Amino acid sequence: MAKEVKKQVERLRNEIRRHDYFYYVLNQQEITDQQYDKLFSELKSLEEANPQFITSDSPTQRVSERPLDGFKTVRYAIPMLSIDNTYSPEELKAFDERVAKGLESRDYGYVVELKIDGVASSLRYEHGLLVTGATRGDGRVGDDVTANVRTIKAIPLRLTGDAPDVLEVRGEVYMPTKSFAALNKQREKEGETLFANPRNATAGSLKLLDSRITAKRNLAFFAYATGETSQPLGKDHYETLQVFKKLGLPVNPNIKKAKNIDEVIGICNSWDKKREQLEYQIDGMVVKVNRLDHREILGFTGRAPRWCISYKFAAEQAETVVESIDVQVGKGGTLTPVANLKPVFLAGTTVKRASLHNFDQMKRLDVREGDTVVIEKAGEIIPQVVEVKKERRPAHTVSFKLPKKCPNCGGDVKKDEEGVFLRCVNPHCLGQLKERLRYFAGRGQMDIENLGEALIDQLAETGLVKNVADIYKLQKEDLIELERMADKSAQNVIDSIEASKTRPLWRLVAGLGIRHIGVQTAQDLAEHFGSLEALMNAGQADLDAIEQVGEKVAESVYEFFHNNKNASVIKELLAAGIKPELPKKARAKGKLSGKTIVVTGTLEKFSRGQIEEAIRDAGGKATSSVSKATDFVLAGEDPGSKLDKALKLGVKVINEKQFLAMLER
Ligand code: IVH
Repeated sequence: MAKEVKKQVERLRNEIRRHDYFYYVLNQQEITDQQYDKLFSELKSLEEANPQFITSDSPTQRVSERPLDGFKTVRYAIPMLSIDNTYSPEELKAFDERVAKGLESRDYGYVVELKIDGVASSLRYEHGLLVTGATRGDGRVGDDVTANVRTIKAIPLRLTGDAPDVLEVRGEVYMPTKSFAALNKQREKEGETLFANPRNATAGSLKLLDSRITAKRNLAFFAYATGETSQPLGKDHYETLQVFKKLGLPVNPNIKKAKNIDEVIGICNSWDKKREQLEYQIDGMVVKVNRLDHREILGFTGRAPRWCISYKFAAEQAETVVESIDVQVGKGGTLTPVANLKPVFLAGTTVKRASLHNFDQMKRLDVREGDTVVIEKAGEIIPQVVEVKKERRPAHTVSFKLPKKCPNCGGDVKKDEEGVFLRCVNPHCLGQLKERLRYFAGRGQMDIENLGEALIDQLAETGLVKNVADIYKLQKEDLIELERMADKSAQNVIDSIEASKTRPLWRLVAGLGIRHIGVQTAQDLAEHFGSLEALMNAGQADLDAIEQVGEKVAESVYEFFHNNKNASVIKELLAAGIKPELPKKARAKGKLSGKTIVVTGTLEKFSRGQIEEAIRDAGGKATSSVSKATDFVLAGEDPGSKLDKALKLGVKVINEKQFLAMLER
């Protein structure tokens, strides 16, 4: 019976892996989404009923339910190098001359690849299983982001076919342009800061401590090199890439061999135009000598190989006219100038606005209303003004005057300490209030789903909401009074506000909009102090003592909570029924009190020492032999005879996921 279940579990896994490969690697689809979901849920329920069969490479185990406390580091036996850049065909020819000189011959060939604009990463497979995924870091030591890498569906958790004992696959994790645009659109709606380009969004997503969020970011991967391997995969680079494909790894389909540098240049030029059609961003091409023995002869300069060069495209530019200049106010009062442009098409989208960053930058460029300007997409996405065509400036333009008052509330403005930004110092500024509310309700903070931009504007303008605590005093009747608000949608808003009351503590801390406190620091603070009260009462010295917290942050936190107005808003929040979920460490206490637990097999997230500590922390007792007095057996991968004994004695068996759920309950 058990054997049959195991077989069925394996059959389902293989089938799901095959469909993942078709969909995420080959870009093809063999079955409908519904059919796929059915296979997946069948596997899930079989595994839930038979936790002893769960393995870490099961497609159900991609997303870890437990956020990390921080990242470990990985040291590379073979460093991840960077490559030198060229910007013109002449420079490519000069590179080719150096190669010919180094090889003392012209008998060599190249492979030309797209230069994917993402984050260089290294995947380590041992005996075909993905064991580590890490970022490049400084090339010798990178961050271990395995939990996040595992969520990328294009990356196989298990290689197919004959995998070498050790294989480090290097490549680029990237975010497709459409996913990036959708992510930023969402973030804009939620009042969160936008990612500048897909590369930044990818880097940010890989560095999240909670892989459940990474799993939603739609990252992808292309393999393009090997690191440490127990045996070479092919005689040349092109062959290596074909072996990658056989192992189930995603390889970019646009890779071409070239016989000489003229062919290389032809391929590069063709992509400068074609790149707009791609579903992801590239910032150039990579040209590699194909044969591995040739590479060996050529060797390395200080930081880069002599057999490889990148060819960078010039950033795409467009000319247009500045119709007007607006000043926007941020949640902390910072004023930012923005140019409204005559709409112009640039690198795939119509651009209507461009950032001018700050007033210093604006003064340097002397951008004026009516000017013809050159815009460029920084990282090819966020447009910015890079040049003013002064010779085409119409008569009677005036240089932009620094705002003396906040354009939103008319309040006083002041230069900040660094002397770069102007800030509105009116504590009652409506513009700031709206931004603060947007931020508080945003996805990355309290995540109040139905509290959108337009509703926030109305709530602030009508005076119904004067601070974040007022959100929790809203009644359905208040909302129905507002424009475009039906009974049902009012109820939805009330429901999502209610649901946000028990968000994790770090979300509340992040949502308060304390200066210098991002999500990461909010998580550190919540974890360290364990409760809102403890954080509020922390002295400067307590804050300073936290490893991850710098002086500026400590000061900012201290000042925030010792400001009377902030303290009373927090009091109101608590009075309104906000009850943040406390960090796991503190909450787990007592969850297993009086329970005796035996662990067998290998766990995914805990070493033996760590699991025993976790059991002890939660008040339980970890023992080594199974008896009738054992409350349950926690079975990992490859469980030993203790599992048999548990089954014989009728002792309850749980898996790692269920164990974690017990701690969280
Ligand atoms: S090969 C020693 N191939 O470009 C050669 N790199 O500036 C290692 N990149 O850090 C790199 N696409 O992040 C290679 N097809 C490709 C690439 C590629 C993007 C990135 C990679 C690397 C950077 C070098």
